[in-house]
Amino acid sequence: MALVDVLAGVLSGSPEEAVARRLDFDRLPKHVAIIMDGNGRWAAERHLPRVEGHRAGIESVRQTVETSARLGLSVLTLYAFSVENWKRPVPEVTALMGLLRHYLRAELKTLLRNNIQFRVIGQLERLSREVREELEAAVDRTRTNSGMVFNIALSYGGRAEIVDAARQALAHGVKPEALTEEMFASFLYTSGQPDPDLLIRTSGEMRVSNFLLWQIAYAEIWVTDTFWPDFRARHLLDAVADYQKRDRRYGAVTSDSAEALK
Ligand code: FPP
Repeated sequence: MALVDVLAGVLSGSPEEAVARRLDFDRLPKHVAIIMDGNGRWAAERHLPRVEGHRAGIESVRQTVETSARLGLSVLTLYAFSVENWKRPVPEVTALMGLLRHYLRAELKTLLRNNIQFRVIGQLERLSREVREELEAAVDRTRTNSGMVFNIALSYGGRAEIVDAARQALAHGVKPEALTEEMFASFLYTSGQPDPDLLIRTSGEMRVSNFLLWQIAYAEIWVTDTFWPDFRARHLLDAVADYQKRDRRYGAVTSDSAEALK
């Protein structure tokens, strides 16, 4: 995947094309994680019920998955439903689960065609049997795909994930003195995946909201005021372009600043 693949998915002469042409395909983030936010406010602005914001957000999911795969990302993680979201009114939760099932039915073929491996992370035991079965079927059908990994975080909480990982480590008889960061990470839901390099949040909120708390330790954060239902390929490409301007230091000094200190 590369520039030609991205260009095949955008209109010639469009702003997307201009941003795509400026990207350095040798310095792409491996893993992009997105906090999809603002569906309710998008709906409120249009005097629509909240669920219409979620429904409109499906098209953003579709475009984001496709553009990410065309870019050649290794992993895309979308935060679809948090452990805190269980506190929302039952009709909204039911509608969200229905939209998720609708998405899977409509998009499974696209995931297969694009060699995408679908995964789900979170406390799945809290989901209904019907939703779980449908998710498991999609995970199974795409298991041998070798392209981008697409994680949906569902009934997900970062703290809960860390507690689950600690429990797993104990259950595997890991001795406290033998526990390392790498070993601990192998008990997380994202075991074997690179940590997110880029964390995107829509709707202008400056919070991480209990998302991938361990994994985002060194992620670059990009926030847009755009509500999730208006998020398009262009926004993703803008985020990646901005990421490529960042100076990732991981707590160390860069060669430039080291030079200046001399
Ligand atoms: C946040 O907006 C969004 C969600 C809680 C759900 C996101 C779900 C979807 C886009 C649809 C289903 C997902 C997939 C992956 C098929 P909010 O309701 O918190 O908005 P607000 O902050 O404006 O109220």
